[in-house]
Amino acid sequence: TKTSILSGPPTEVWKFSATLLKGPQGTVEEIPGSYLGPILRLRQGQKVRIHFHNKVPGPCVIHQHGLHVPERSDGHPRYAIDQGQTYSYDFQVLNRAGTYWYHSHTHQYTGHRVYFGLAGLLLVSDQEERALNLPSGDYEIPLVIQDRQFGQQNELHYTRGMHERMAGFLGNRILVNGFPDFELPVAARAYRLRILNGSNSRIYKLAWSDGTPVTVIASDGGLLEKPERYPYVTLAPAERIELWVDFGGRKVGSEIKLQSLPFSGTMPRMGGGMGGRGHGRGRHGHGGDSALPNGADFSIMKVQVVRKENENQKLPRRLSTIRNYQMQEAENPDHPRTIHLSMRPHSPRLNGRSFSMTAVAEEEGVKLDSLQLIEFVNRDRRARGMMMAHPMHIHGQPFQILRREVLPAFQQSYTTLSKGFINSGWRDTVLVMPGEKVTLLKPFEDYEGLFLYHCHNMEHEDLDMMRNFQVR
Ligand code: C2O
Ligand code: CU
Ligand code: CU
Repeated sequence: TKTSILSGPPTEVWKFSATLLKGPQGTVEEIPGSYLGPILRLRQGQKVRIHFHNKVPGPCVIHQHGLHVPERSDGHPRYAIDQGQTYSYDFQVLNRAGTYWYHSHTHQYTGHRVYFGLAGLLLVSDQEERALNLPSGDYEIPLVIQDRQFGQQNELHYTRGMHERMAGFLGNRILVNGFPDFELPVAARAYRLRILNGSNSRIYKLAWSDGTPVTVIASDGGLLEKPERYPYVTLAPAERIELWVDFGGRKVGSEIKLQSLPFSGTMPRMGGGMGGRGHGRGRHGHGGDSALPNGADFSIMKVQVVRKENENQKLPRRLSTIRNYQMQEAENPDHPRTIHLSMRPHSPRLNGRSFSMTAVAEEEGVKLDSLQLIEFVNRDRRARGMMMAHPMHIHGQPFQILRREVLPAFQQSYTTLSKGFINSGWRDTVLVMPGEKVTLLKPFEDYEGLFLYHCHNMEHEDLDMMRNFQVR
């Protein structure tokens, strides 16, 4: 049997209640037995109202990650409400079809709250996608991948000691949809897998155990133009990917695993480079000492072909039409907004600053309805051994990746992951590797206000590696 908590009493497993008032199309699906929130299914164009009742001890707010909504409905931490209060989100679904998600975004508690279950999937459909008739129902499988640690009583165990603050929390058990040792029984036919990396800081290098190439049909912001094949896919925290996988040629009884392959170069080199007077690994740093470091080789889930099927579906050759931005369309084609990522002991920063609820620096003021050229630069010379990979996320509309450049000195470990980067299509989170500069084009349309950008390593986010863009 599968339970989300191995056994024993669940501690601090939180839920939020969602009510969809408008539109008969919206549905809320619970994942039975899981500590995750329900799956919300929405349609493009739909008007949505969500009443969020905070039953959590302490302030809380929920953010719809990847959705393009007004500031008041974006879950900015300054809209956190106290226990017992209710906050209503009102928005129209403008996004394309895609795999989005929602999670707690309380200032300095995002990692903690998500860890104990305040997160869930938010699936949007639209006409273009429905016309493709992709595998649906039993053949469309949402998969939320997270790593956790369990204590003596099999309770969820979260620590934020010195080590986790630096590198992020890592668990030694892999959960899928809240379940350890996840197994997926399938029919011998095509499936659509909708995968979210809902982990606090772990990066996955997803591959099929028998070497079958990974067929990607969508990323953060929905369908790609056409299916793309990769030897593996790199999935950083908060990123989503949709895979097409056809078990049609496989025998009943056969097995295949979805695994994470080894890689290097994403973590700070501990020891000498860590700095900070005499702080070695934190005394409570179980995460860092976990048997499962970032870049380890492990299995995520086992897929078993349990029955034959006569009918099958074909992978469409074309999926969608994407309008690709040109650099010259940006308001600032010659003056990118440059965001330097840096790490100091206890304080990861963006352009040398940490979070402020409302203060905005000059380069963070953005004109409404403009397209901006933005670059994230992870080349802090003074960081030395503390340099690590940062999954950078921007709220509001998704962006397009224009180019990625890595310094030669970092090339070697970079290539252990870079063949799995999905650089086409729409993205809202991008992994910025040590030595790398990622240039992107980001539209800021429709809504004025403060929209966050931050590292989605949740321990970094909670250490204030987060800032606002002010759109006006
Ligand atoms: Cu997934 Cu600002 O969040
Ligand atoms: Cu977000
Ligand atoms: Cu970070």
